[in-house]
Amino acid sequence: MGKTWWCLIFVTWLCLFAFSDGRELKTRHTSHLAQYNHTLATILVEYASAVYLSDLTQLFTWTCSRCGDLTKGFEIIELVVDVEHCLQAFVGVADDPRAIIIAFRGTNEHSLQNWIEDLYWKQHEINYPDMDDAMVHRGFYTAYHNTTIRPAVLGAVERAKKFYGDIPIIALGHSMGGAMAAFCGLDLTVNKQEKNVQVMTFGQPRIGNGVFVSLYSKLVPNTIRVTNDHDIVPHLPPYYYYLPQKTYQHFPREVWLYNIGLGSLVYRVEKICDGSGEDPSCSRSVSGNSITDHLVYYGVDMGSDDPQSCRIVMNSDVPSTSSIRDSRGNFILSRNPTSSLLKLSTEFDNKEKAVNVY
Ligand SMILES: *[C@@H]1O[C@H](CO)[C@@H](O)[C@H](O)[C@H]1NC(C)=O
Ligand SMILES: *[C@@H]1O[C@H](CO)[C@@H](O)[C@H](O)[C@H]1NC(C)=O
Repeated sequence: MGKTWWCLIFVTWLCLFAFSDGRELKTRHTSHLAQYNHTLATILVEYASAVYLSDLTQLFTWTCSRCGDLTKGFEIIELVVDVEHCLQAFVGVADDPRAIIIAFRGTNEHSLQNWIEDLYWKQHEINYPDMDDAMVHRGFYTAYHNTTIRPAVLGAVERAKKFYGDIPIIALGHSMGGAMAAFCGLDLTVNKQEKNVQVMTFGQPRIGNGVFVSLYSKLVPNTIRVTNDHDIVPHLPPYYYYLPQKTYQHFPREVWLYNIGLGSLVYRVEKICDGSGEDPSCSRSVSGNSITDHLVYYGVDMGSDDPQSCRIVMNSDVPSTSSIRDSRGNFILSRNPTSSLLKLSTEFDNKEKAVNVY
């Protein structure tokens, strides 16, 4: 009798424990805000910088001038250039953090001024599919969804997962590349049922309205949006506080980098902002009046190496198995994770002369 009694108590206790544990996990999940990791940010910013480079051979073999340092050992799986729309992205697998990295390039410096003016004055919104009342910026949405970029990226992620299993996926980018990274993170979560998606963006513009932002932050909570001092781009398209239903808004979580002090005593501060996305004490507390602050994040150059055009450079004879060029001139360089990088490097090295493709 006593034995059964104790047994019952034990089982009840077990049940209670399991139940409350489950509930706790659930509440923790709904109030989840991304944790900022400074070390991780300084690594990821280097990918966001490298994707701007125009020498595809160096990028593909990860030998470019911005490819060393903290990104050593990165194995690129796919490099895609949408020549028509001047877009570029790559997918690969990193050692630290052990993850699939998807990086998107931003707008070319040559057209940055026009691009910024357009963000002030010309906004065209479309409905985000299957999400009532969620409106997004048409240009950013189509740059990811309606170009060569999306199918190439999704295909490469699938190949990477086949080989490396279920490692985390990190989408990142600077400027418009950040906007595309956010759409990619959402796409992977909603349409590919990926569970472990992180997004980190640098100097990203606003991409949607309040309804979109609250859906986004529920679906892709592991998002960090870094802003730098007076960088103008995170202030665009403008936030109209007297039109809270209609205005563009940012999703969380912002991390605002700024300097305090005077003269030789300047300190760098990294302010981790609240869960609103529009923390009034972060980037919103200053006027966005600097393009210079847009072009350097964590001391890393975020511009193109060849700001005059969208031209790309590539060796004349890329191994045919890994290169596709479609009828509109868009490029996809890809390889299987299994093939050795070393082999590809030598093949490239044997072809001395680089040609300008575009
Ligand atoms: C932050 O990121 C770095 C680089 O991936 C990692 O080594 C470190 O463990 C992370 N720290 C925390 C607290 O997660
Ligand atoms: C996507 O591209 C196609 C063909 O270029 C075009 O007809 C269509 O309207 C575009 N969709 C959006 C949402 O822009």
